Amino acid sequence: MSSRLPGFFRLPLAERRRQVAEVAALDGADLDALDGGLELACADDMIENVIGRLALPLAIATNFTVDGVDALVPMAIEEPSVVAAASNGARMLRAGGGFTSAVSPAVVTGQIQVIEVADVDGALAALAAAGPALLTRARALVPRLVARGGGPRAVSARILARPPGPDGGVVVLHLDVDCLDAMGANLVNTLCEQLADDVAARAGGQVGLRILSNLSDQRTVRVTGRVPDADLGDARIAGAEVRAAIARASRFAEQDPYRAVTHNKGIMNGVDAVLVATGQDWRAVEAGAHAYAARTGSYRPLATWREDGDGLVGELELPLAVGTVGGALRVHRGAALALRLAGALAAADQGGVAAPMPAARLAAIAAAAGLACNLAALRALATEGIQRGHMTLHARAIARAAGVPDALIATVAAELAAGGDVRIEAVQGIMERLKEMAPP
Ligand code: MEV
Repeated sequence: MSSRLPGFFRLPLAERRRQVAEVAALDGADLDALDGGLELACADDMIENVIGRLALPLAIATNFTVDGVDALVPMAIEEPSVVAAASNGARMLRAGGGFTSAVSPAVVTGQIQVIEVADVDGALAALAAAGPALLTRARALVPRLVARGGGPRAVSARILARPPGPDGGVVVLHLDVDCLDAMGANLVNTLCEQLADDVAARAGGQVGLRILSNLSDQRTVRVTGRVPDADLGDARIAGAEVRAAIARASRFAEQDPYRAVTHNKGIMNGVDAVLVATGQDWRAVEAGAHAYAARTGSYRPLATWREDGDGLVGELELPLAVGTVGGALRVHRGAALALRLAGALAAADQGGVAAPMPAARLAAIAAAAGLACNLAALRALATEGIQRGHMTLHARAIARAAGVPDALIATVAAELAAGGDVRIEAVQGIMERLKEMAPP
């Protein structure tokens, strides 16, 4: 089963649905979940003060092959061009064998802050000595996670402030927990709350905050890929020229934080869209990604591109705490379906068994979407600029906003984009001209 689906973007929406339904063996109820997939009553149970639901477009990015297995990549996003960028980037990288991932164990760190510690050095020694006992206790609190091969892995402590000071002596204890396929926030927060009194007593201070850290620098994913020159170039520009231009664009981001932020924004376009579609805590990933980008003390690009003989090699590394069990997936049928779609081709290859997707696979797919978007953005920026492609899609939204009937949207959008004036005001002139040209 292939994610290639040539010409998918040109098909009418109904035909795209039909193809995806066939590939992913969706039934009527599944198709129904493609229209939001969140009952009002479920929404009311998810957050407070609910008055409705907000919809976003859900799309499939094509051409992805990650670790030798194809994937339909679900993306939910309001911005035009991102899904096209992901599909284009994945098509170029597919020619070089697709994406290869290395995903770390799912280790999330919880923090227990202890304040008003009179003797911070003594506290550190006491916590180091208590490490094995604290770990044993922590493991006993999550027996099912431990039985599945996860659970608390390590404790460590640091001094944050010496007395005197506004909080007296301050010590923080880190508890590292392998959360397996869960995102882990609830799990780690609960563990921290349960252990805090014991930790504070051993440190000789008072309990402060007890919460996970979203700087998940131990839960990372690295994806790499190579594009041969032949797939970088086109009729207008040679592959070798594009290769050099993309490597130069990568260096720009490495030299300048102003550029690095925009470069990383383009990566997060892909990552976040997959996270939103599959019901993940994308704010946690965003916060962690940017802190990770700045971990050396200066803000750096999360992905870089290097020339490699007659090809271009890209590498993206970022923390990615995602879960494929629990969280919003429990109640949000649309997010659960998007996750199933992401694993549908792998499941079809295994004879249709739709096993729950490991979180590591979802992290690899989300990162692959990030690297693909980055490649497509850099290619466009380093050659013709992004506005032409962007405007073609933007023009459709403008034509619709101006009240153009469905049947004429494609024609009006094409004229708007070709004229270079993509504003509601320009739609009227085009509509008048079309009326004049129509047979009486
Ligand atoms: C726009 O959403 C993303 C880009 O600005 C990314 C980039 O500049 O690399 C095109």
